[in-house]
Amino acid sequence: MTKSLSIIIGSTRTNRVGKAIADWAAEQATHAGFETIEFIDLKELDLPKFDAEVSPMYAPIDTPEARAWGKVITDSERLLVLTPEYNRSVPSDLKSAIDTLFAEWADKPTAIISYGYIEGGKNAGLHLRDILTHLRTDLAADTAAIQLSETLVSDGAVQADELSEDIRTAVTATLSALAAK
Ligand SMILES: Cc1cc2nc3c(=O)[nH]c(=O)nc-3n(C[C@H](O)[C@H](O)[C@H](O)COP(=O)(O)O)c2cc1C
Repeated sequence: MTKSLSIIIGSTRTNRVGKAIADWAAEQATHAGFETIEFIDLKELDLPKFDAEVSPMYAPIDTPEARAWGKVITDSERLLVLTPEYNRSVPSDLKSAIDTLFAEWADKPTAIISYGYIEGGKNAGLHLRDILTHLRTDLAADTAAIQLSETLVSDGAVQADELSEDIRTAVTATLSALAAK
């Protein structure tokens, strides 16, 4: 059966390295058995900032934007969430996009890859795991943390030979665990 992956690009800032990391992750995903890969680019989607009277756990947000965003997640077979680490956690735009939905996250096969300068943004990955566990997402046990350096992303692309063997192995294991779900 054809396996599809949707990669959520968690960074929305100008000059982000997130797009280059997503391109590289997509390449690795093909090696892990994914045949169809698409990007869910929060920068392009430009979702409205979370604003609801109560948690969407109790009442889904009934706006065209929230419904469309919910459909993007519902229609995704498997998700890879790529998060940078900002102040030891996930970026606010990513958290706002997550908070905008509730039921859509439940049971969705999902993996997390973080990146950052401090232990590959591991802390953001742990925060994200906690958030998605609360939302009953079907999380891959494996995870990966990509160690940034000043030169890891050059000319708009990841220089993979700068990544340690351990990190590359962790990325492959994470994607394979997601493909196996
Ligand atoms: C507001 C802000 C806070 C940051 N805090 C952290 C941090 O706590 N840990 C870390 O490893 N890197 C931190 N960084 C560095 C980012 O991981 C790095 O800039 C990375 O390129 C961000 O991803 P992006 O370029 O895709 O947005 C921070 C960057 C910003 C902009």
